[in-house]
Amino acid sequence: TGQELTADFDARIAAHQRIEPRDWMPEGYRSTLVRQIAQHAHSEIIGMQPEGDWLTRAPSLRRKAILLAKVQDEAGHGLYLYAAAETLGVDRADLTQRLIEGRQKYSSIFNYPTLTFADVGVIGWLVDGAAICNQVPLCRSSFGPYARAMVRVCKEESFHQRQGYELLLQMMAGTPAQRTMVQDAVDRWWWPSLMMFGPPDADSPNTRQSMAWGIKRDTNDELRQKFVDMSVPQAVALGVTLPDPDLAWNAERGHHDFGAVDWAEFKRVVSGGGQCNAERVSRRRAAHEEGAWVREAAAAYAAKHQGTGQG
Ligand code: ACO
Repeated sequence: TGQELTADFDARIAAHQRIEPRDWMPEGYRSTLVRQIAQHAHSEIIGMQPEGDWLTRAPSLRRKAILLAKVQDEAGHGLYLYAAAETLGVDRADLTQRLIEGRQKYSSIFNYPTLTFADVGVIGWLVDGAAICNQVPLCRSSFGPYARAMVRVCKEESFHQRQGYELLLQMMAGTPAQRTMVQDAVDRWWWPSLMMFGPPDADSPNTRQSMAWGIKRDTNDELRQKFVDMSVPQAVALGVTLPDPDLAWNAERGHHDFGAVDWAEFKRVVSGGGQCNAERVSRRRAAHEEGAWVREAAAAYAAKHQGTGQG
C-alpha cells in the first residue's frame, strides 16, 4: 500500500541508505531531485563559457593546456549530471530545451564577465572552491546516482581549485600590475561566490525538506560559513584582501563574522538581469541549434543499425 511504501522510504532515509532509480520514491522527492540536478547540470554547461572565453588568449601553452582540460571537465560534469537526472525519468533534450527557454535556472555565478586572465585564477580558487564546499557533502546525498556522480566531480573540482590558486600565486609573485589585476578580480568575485550557496536559510524555500530527505546534507548558511572560514587563511597566504570590512574572527563562535550579502543583486541576477545572462543563454541556444545535424546523424545511424548488432 501507499502507506507501507512511504514508511519503507522514510525508514531507508532515516537509516542513511541510498535510494536508487527503481525504488519507490515520493513524487516530491523525485521532482526536487530533477530540479536540483538539472540546475546543477545546466550550471556546469553554462559554466564553460566564462573561462572558455580565455582559451584563445591564455598567456602560455601550459596555461592553455590546463584551461582546456578544465573546460572539458565541466562538459563531462554536465553529462554525468544529465545522465543522473535521466534515471529519474526525464529526458536530457527536454531539460536542455527548458534551459534555453529560460524555464530552468543555472548558477548565478556564471552571469558575471571574465575581464582579465586573473579571473581564470580567481574562478578556480573561489568559484571552484565554493563548488567543492557545496558538493563534497553531496557525495553523501540520499539519491545514489547523484551521490556517485559527485565523487568524480569533486576530484576534478579539486584539480580546478588547485590550478586556480597556483596561477594566482604565480601572478602575485609577478609585477605590481599583475598583483593589482589579482586584487581586482578578487574584489569582483568574492561576493558573487558567497551567493552561490543560495539564499539565507530563513528565505530558502527548499532547504528544510531537502535536508529531511537527505538530498542536501548542510544548509546554505552552514556551507557559506564554512567557505568564508576556509578562504580567509588562503587569502592571507596569497597576499590579497577580501573586500569585506566586516570580516573578523569571532572567538566566541569559532567562526569568522562577515558582512551582509547584497540579496537584491542575487535576485536580479537569478531572474535574468545580470550582466551576462542574455549572452550566456543565447550562446547556449546557438550551440544547440548548430549541433542539430550531429544529433540527427547519430539518430539516423542508430536507427539504421538497430538490431544488426552494429548500432
Ligand atoms: N544561482 C541560481 N539560483 C539559485 C542559486 C544560485 N546561486 N541558489 C539558489 N538558487 C535558486 C534555487 O534553485 C531555488 O529556485 P527554484 O526553487 O525555482 O528551483 C531558489 O533559488 C531558492 O533556493 P533554495 O531553496 O535554497 O534552493 P536549493 O535547496 O535547491 O539550494 C543550492 C540551492 C544550494 C544551489 C542547491 O540547489 C545545490 O546544492 N545544488 C547543487 C550544486 C549546484 O548546482 N552547483 C552549481 C554551481 S557550481 C558549478 O557548477 C561549478
